[in-house]
Amino acid sequence: MASGQKYTVDPARLEGVASEPLFAAVAAEAAKQNIPAFAIGGYVRDRLIGRPCKDIDFVVEGDGIAFAQAVAERLGSGPVHVFKNFGTAMFMHGDEQVEFVGARKESYSRNSRKPEVEPGTIKDDQERRDFTINALAISMNQGSLGALVDPFGGILDLDRGLLRTPLDPDITFSDDPLRMLRAVRFATQLGFTIDPATFEAIQRNAKRLEIISAERIHGEFNKIILTPKPSSGFILLRDSGLMAEFLPEFLELAGAEEMFGIGHKDNFYHTLQVLDNVCEKSDDLWLRWAAVLHDIAKPATKRFVPGTGWTFYGHEDKGARMVPKIFRRLKLPLDDQMKLVQKLVALHLRPIALTKEEVTDSAIRRLLFDAGDDIDALMILCRADITSKNEKKKDRYLRNYEVVMQKLKDVEEKDRVRNFQPPITGEDIMRAFNIPPCKLIGDIKTVIKDAILDGVIHNERSEAWQLMLATGRKLGVDPVVLEDKGQ
Ligand code: CTP
Repeated sequence: MASGQKYTVDPARLEGVASEPLFAAVAAEAAKQNIPAFAIGGYVRDRLIGRPCKDIDFVVEGDGIAFAQAVAERLGSGPVHVFKNFGTAMFMHGDEQVEFVGARKESYSRNSRKPEVEPGTIKDDQERRDFTINALAISMNQGSLGALVDPFGGILDLDRGLLRTPLDPDITFSDDPLRMLRAVRFATQLGFTIDPATFEAIQRNAKRLEIISAERIHGEFNKIILTPKPSSGFILLRDSGLMAEFLPEFLELAGAEEMFGIGHKDNFYHTLQVLDNVCEKSDDLWLRWAAVLHDIAKPATKRFVPGTGWTFYGHEDKGARMVPKIFRRLKLPLDDQMKLVQKLVALHLRPIALTKEEVTDSAIRRLLFDAGDDIDALMILCRADITSKNEKKKDRYLRNYEVVMQKLKDVEEKDRVRNFQPPITGEDIMRAFNIPPCKLIGDIKTVIKDAILDGVIHNERSEAWQLMLATGRKLGVDPVVLEDKGQ
């Protein structure tokens, strides 16, 4: 068993499979039509290691679509969704998604550009799959019902925690280069090792990732980010050469330069530590992305300043500006998710900057205002960012962090600016001064907002009303309504 392996294999988990309603229906239909049928792929793998799986794939040596329709009828399930181009059909059986396909000689790939494939045997089908552990099948046929069909030693690999291609890896990866990323994803998810020959083939073929769509790439990369400890996957992505193909900026973080005996930390490993730390606290994909990118502009902003040492001035702002470019290139969503990542990158230094003794309530209010509802996510990132190896320094930062947390709590209780809604609206201003929509309204609103955040007035309507009147007069307009008659 590989050291990081998270599951144990138990063939006894296949016992009784043939008597479960879905499998019994498949077996009965296979007997009736007299064509070989098999459960195959991820479901078989996951069942053997006791990992939950709701996607069940079957391969039949014949017409997969007609077979699916017959099985669905037996079970009273449906509707059956047919994907003619791919020769597949799918239906829901309870909460399980069941899919059928005819065995084929060509590579198994839903994204194949050549959907027309030659029919084949189960062995042909198995050998065109990605890894031996994903090529395992269970017979649905009389005489061998419920038996494992494992021509490539998949169960041994599952037990050893090994990812290995059934064929020469150069062939398996040229069939679908995304499989190289899948190897890293499975290694990270399952705690498996990639077989050396398979890994060397990934290094040789990494450049082939260029023919894969950004959507498929980010799909696998997100799965790696969503594992409990993604750092091991990131190291494999670096060592295999895959990361250079889709996130080269991240590689730039590597290295700890020294000048005049003064060094800085290696931001590649630092970022991985921050990411793992965040993953202990949150499953949110976009907060995890913020951890990945929080220091992404450090290489571009790095300077050695005599007397000061290494500086990365402005890396949070430059980093925030890099986020949309990276998201666009990887075809990740550009709306709220991207904006959250961008905001967290931009603000990630702010909480710790607030630890000084003399920090004012106004600075705390401004942070609450800028972070809004994302303050909790920001604080998780900020806490995770404390990775110093110097215990004393680390303790000091952690104490500071606690101080900021307390100040945030106190100020929010007092002033409620986290979800700041201006107590005076644009409508109020137009009514009070009898003016049409114009720039002046925005100016007055800004003065009121700043006064609240700076603690000049309370976050409260009557004080804001008076300030509005005074500000208008100062800016040259006379109010026509002096008394606030409510909103
Ligand atoms: N497969 C493959 N090559 C690919 C994608 C899939 O050979 N590029 C095969 C594997 O046999 C895999 C099966 O198709 O087990 C189903 O694919 P998929 O549902 O993507 O993966 P799973 O193995 O089921 O794993 P997960 O559900 O975690 O993605």
